[in-house]
Amino acid sequence: MRLAEAEMAYTFDDFVLEPNISCIESRGCPDIGILTEALTLSAPIFSAPMDTITEYEMAIAMKKCGGGSVIHRYMSVAKQVEIAEQMQALSSLGSTFFAVGSNHDAEERVPALYDIGVRNICVDVANGHNIHCWRTIESIKKQFPDTIIMAGNVCTLRGIEKLALAGANLVRIGIGSGAVCTTRLVTGHGVPQLSAIEECTRIKKDFPKLILIADGGIRHSGDIVKALAVGADVVMIGSLLAGTIETPGQIIEEDGRLFKYYQGMASEKARSKWFDKTKAGLPTEGVATKVPYTGKSTIKIVEGLCKSLRVGLSYSGASNITELQAKARWKRITNAGFIEGTPHGKRQ
Ligand code: XMP
Repeated sequence: MRLAEAEMAYTFDDFVLEPNISCIESRGCPDIGILTEALTLSAPIFSAPMDTITEYEMAIAMKKCGGGSVIHRYMSVAKQVEIAEQMQALSSLGSTFFAVGSNHDAEERVPALYDIGVRNICVDVANGHNIHCWRTIESIKKQFPDTIIMAGNVCTLRGIEKLALAGANLVRIGIGSGAVCTTRLVTGHGVPQLSAIEECTRIKKDFPKLILIADGGIRHSGDIVKALAVGADVVMIGSLLAGTIETPGQIIEEDGRLFKYYQGMASEKARSKWFDKTKAGLPTEGVATKVPYTGKSTIKIVEGLCKSLRVGLSYSGASNITELQAKARWKRITNAGFIEGTPHGKRQ
């Protein structure tokens, strides 16, 4: 392929949505839920399967505010089973998925989780364009046909097609877009997120029931509105939740200020913590950071995001997400236009 043939690819800050004529009476009215065979949520948000984001407390908080969660896979099978049992006792398994790796990791985890009633599995692979990912989906679906499978990550139509054909019910879209990702710097690969989502929506022609998750790079509620408007069904977030009460890990005090760690699962820090032998000798594709501890509950954060999302829908004159996708009108903006849209008045 010649460079001249390359398409332009864009991300959230390259576009804004144009306000539309709206007959929405109240900005609190729009319905932001999703109701399908594979997934029912009243808040279209998943917490990410990362060791500094989603364990039991986060899953419960996400459930309480109508969202979904994915318990990370960097813990023993016994620990995942224990979390599943605790959630089952509270009848809270519904929208919680359990992450497994490809091949042997899935062979070990899925039967143990299935035996205690887990049906929602997330095949969590950094690069879902790889044979290991779709072979793992096929093998789980063959052995446990009633499982609901989330898989990824991909950022192309070719990639999502492979996962859909293998039997995935939900697919995570996003390579290198996350707040602690370095995949694009390290490997030179990835696709800016808004274009990645838009390209992947073309799968709906052949797989209308496939649920698309925009995963990574969401920094504001406006990014959620844009991700859904361009075609995602739900979003997945990590960094926006990183400083909340429910994330795993200690609160750290430095010079009187409080922090929590937020680390990429392919960072040196995460790999050495979990002794990930399968990745020995491979370059890292993430970084570890500290984020201010907010002392706020995930429920407050997610409720705030949902309120803003509803207002976002009302600006497009949409009463639900399907209408938002149909009515969305985009403006491509310059860097000056982007700066204009951020706080830039002189401080007093
Ligand atoms: P945000 O931007 O919400 O992104 O913090 C969360 C998503 O980031 C992905 N993730 C990684 N990607 N290297 C990567 O390239 C990593 O080490 C890494 N860790 C997490 C993942 O998709 C998550 O949901």
